Amino acid sequence: MKRVDDFRLRFGKRELVPIMIGGMGVDISTAELALEAARLGGIGHISDAMLPTVTDRLYDTDFVKTKLQQYKYNIENADKAAVKFDLGHIAESTRLHVSKTMEAKRGEGMVFINCMEKLTMNAPRETLTVRLRSALDAGIDGITLAAGLHLGSFAMIEDHPRFRDAKLGIIVSSLRALQLFLRKNARTNRLPDYVVVEGPLAGGHLGFGLDDWMKYDLRTITQEVLDFLKAEQLDIPVIPAGGIFTGTDATNFLEMGAAAVQVATRFTVADECGLPKDVQQEYFKASESDIEVNGVSPTGYPMRMLKNSPAIGSGIRPGCEAYGYILDANGRCAYVDSYNREVAAHPDEKKIQVFDKTCLCTHMRNFKLWTCGHYTYKLKDTTNKLADGSYQVLSAEHIFRDYQFSTDNKIALPEKA
Ligand SMILES: Cc1cc2nc3c(=O)[nH]c(=O)nc-3n(C[C@H](O)[C@H](O)[C@H](O)COP(=O)(O)O)c2cc1C
Repeated sequence: MKRVDDFRLRFGKRELVPIMIGGMGVDISTAELALEAARLGGIGHISDAMLPTVTDRLYDTDFVKTKLQQYKYNIENADKAAVKFDLGHIAESTRLHVSKTMEAKRGEGMVFINCMEKLTMNAPRETLTVRLRSALDAGIDGITLAAGLHLGSFAMIEDHPRFRDAKLGIIVSSLRALQLFLRKNARTNRLPDYVVVEGPLAGGHLGFGLDDWMKYDLRTITQEVLDFLKAEQLDIPVIPAGGIFTGTDATNFLEMGAAAVQVATRFTVADECGLPKDVQQEYFKASESDIEVNGVSPTGYPMRMLKNSPAIGSGIRPGCEAYGYILDANGRCAYVDSYNREVAAHPDEKKIQVFDKTCLCTHMRNFKLWTCGHYTYKLKDTTNKLADGSYQVLSAEHIFRDYQFSTDNKIALPEKA
C-alpha cells in the first residue's frame, strides 16, 4: 500500500517531501511552523498578512504605533480614504520577517510566503508591489499568490533579479481561474512553478459562492486542472488543498497525479502554530454544527469559521487608523459601512453590535476570529484527552510525519503528555 513518502515533489533537480503547510494569516502559520516543515523536507508558509503588526509583536518594531499617531485625528471620521500606509514601513517589516525566518532555516525543504491580493491596503498596486519585491529581496524561497486573481502580480516583479529563480505559485479554485491567469500572464513568458487547487472544505476565505460552495468538490476540480494541463502539455505541479485530513487522503491525490498536497487544519493545533493555547482548545472541542461558512468578512469572500468566534456580532470601532489592510483603492471597507449604519441607527447606545460584517483586521490580529477548515471537528480524534478535560497539543513534526507515513486512513496519536 502506498503512502505519501513514496512520492516526491520535483522542482527541477530538487526533490521535496510532497507536503506543503498552507499560509495562515495573521501569523497563525508562524515562522516556527514553516521552519519545521522545511526541516522535515517539505514546504512551509509564512504569511504576509499584516506584517507591520506581526513584526511589532515579534521584533519590537513600532509600525502600528507610528501609523496610529499619524492618523489619530481621523478615528471619529467615517471616511478612511486619507489613511495610507507608509511604503517604507511595509518594505521594512516584510524584509525583517522574511530575513529572520530564512536565516533560521535548516534542512532540505523550502519556506514560501502566502500573499493575499485582497489585502488592498488603500493602494492595491503600490502596497502589493512592495510586499512582493521585499519578500524576494529578503530571500524567500517562493511566493504563493492567494485570495484574489493576481492577474497583474507577475508583472509587478518581472524586472526583479529573482523573478525567474524564486518559486512562484498561485491558488485557484477553478480551472477557469487558472486559464484566466495563464492568459493574462502569457506576456511575462513565465509560467507559475506550481498551482494550488483549493477546494470548498479549506479554512480561511473560499473561492466559491456563499450559497453554492457545497456543490463543488476538490477531486473533480483537481482532475479538470490535471486534464487541462496535460492537454496543453504544460508541466506545472498541481497541489490540491482543502479537507485533506489523513495521509491516505493525501496519497489518493498523489496517485491521481497531484505533485503534492497543501494542508493546514491539522496544524492549527500544533505547538508551533500561532493560535493562542486557549483558542486551540476551541478548535479541538468544536463539533460539526459549530462550524459555518458565512459572509462576515468585509473582503466579500465567504469565510469558514467557528460560530462562537468573538468577532461575530462584535461592533468595535473600525481599526483602520492602526491597521486598514482591507481598505480598497477608494479607502472603503464593508465593515466601516456596516458600523456607521449601526451607529446611525442606534445614536444613544454606547455599545453597538454589527452582525453582517466584522472588523477583520483587528479581530484576526487579536485571534478573535477563529477561521478553520471544514474538518476541524475531527481534530479531537488526532490527539489524547488529558485528565483535566483539555486536549493535548501536538508537535508539528508529529503531524507532518503522520501525513508522510500513515496508511489505511489511520491517524497516529501522540505519546501521552
Ligand atoms: C486558520 C486558517 C487560516 C488560513 N489563512 C489563510 C490565509 O491567510 N491565506 C490563504 O491563502 N489561505 C489560508 N488558509 C487556507 C490554507 O492555507 C489551506 O489552503 C487550506 O486550509 C487547506 O485545507 P485544510 O485546512 O483542510 O488542510 C487558512 C486556513 C486555516 C485553517
